[in-house]
Amino acid sequence: MSVTHDKHGRAALHLARAASLAPSPHNSQPWFFAEEGHDHGFQVRLDGGRRMPLTDPFEREAVIACGAALFNVRVAVRQLGFRPVVELLPAPGDSHHLARVGFAAHLPSTPEEELLARVMPHRHTHRGRFAAAPLSAELLAELHEQARAEGATLQVVDDPEQLDLVAELVRTAEDAHRADFGHVAELERQVGAYGVPVEACAQHPDATLLAGRDYLSLARRCLISARSRGRGTGTVVVLSTPHDRRPDWLRAGQALQRVLLCAAAHDVMAAFHTQPLELPAPRARLRTEFTAGRYPQVVLRLGHVPLPQTWRTRRRTPLQVLVRGDATARW
Ligand SMILES: Cc1cc2nc3c(=O)[nH]c(=O)nc-3n(C[C@H](O)[C@H](O)[C@H](O)COP(=O)(O)O)c2cc1C
Repeated sequence: MSVTHDKHGRAALHLARAASLAPSPHNSQPWFFAEEGHDHGFQVRLDGGRRMPLTDPFEREAVIACGAALFNVRVAVRQLGFRPVVELLPAPGDSHHLARVGFAAHLPSTPEEELLARVMPHRHTHRGRFAAAPLSAELLAELHEQARAEGATLQVVDDPEQLDLVAELVRTAEDAHRADFGHVAELERQVGAYGVPVEACAQHPDATLLAGRDYLSLARRCLISARSRGRGTGTVVVLSTPHDRRPDWLRAGQALQRVLLCAAAHDVMAAFHTQPLELPAPRARLRTEFTAGRYPQVVLRLGHVPLPQTWRTRRRTPLQVLVRGDATARW
């Protein structure tokens, strides 16, 4: 038996690999995982040192990312033929211990679950324009149902006035971020081999109706006219939850990943536009004027990608993110 297998069980390595494929703000990967005993239980933990303090001062986005990782763990447990038993925030007083996943009765995975596992490595974040083909009403209804199953609401922004409102709030927040030196520096630090690869940032951030993150300060060098921004925006959706505490963020993350994987199974990818949710005023406006009092957690554009992505957004390896349960005290 190899040294690796002495240190970690095979199941734990499989789960850590799947969890790491989750999306996270600018690929910050604000997580690590702990194996309890040899393949007995699996902990999802927040790595507070990897979150982005200016963008995400309350850890909301980092917890959402860990929720997405948790959903991948659930899918990976089903792949092994077991039923996952999930406890959210199982250790009062340890707010970084976000979830514990145990293995319950044997139950063969369904074809739908197998499909989610298969698309997991292929799902990726898109930036820039989508192809013109719209999403079908059936797919949008299915995505709505996937979010609902996790306790979240996915709303399509199809009314032109509401679309303008969302675009305006994204623009206001993005402009504020671009004008804030600290924020620009925090974002720039995320670009690179272990963050967001340079190739992924090459699209002009103002190419669609919803402003994108300007990872490379491209907007300073080249302006795009407001008139040409309408094309290739895709379908704009907002994911929201009834409350706004850590368990809600974990549910939002699981709903997000369930929606993203289901979309990817239909060759649909997502672009993130979470800027207005990082500032109190635009988030409050979105909440009162669009989500009827529910808390907006993620804003996405969904669509078909015009050309296949040729780069990979790297993750830390399972051995870099997995510790033994008795080693968690040092975090
Ligand atoms: C809560 C959250 C917020 C995000 N916000 C943005 C964003 O504003 N702009 C963006 O381009 N990507 C955003 N992302 C996507 C990440 O950059 C992406 O997941 C990460 O780089 C990993 O790449 P991948 O999704 O292609 O695997 C966000 C992801 C999460 C989970």
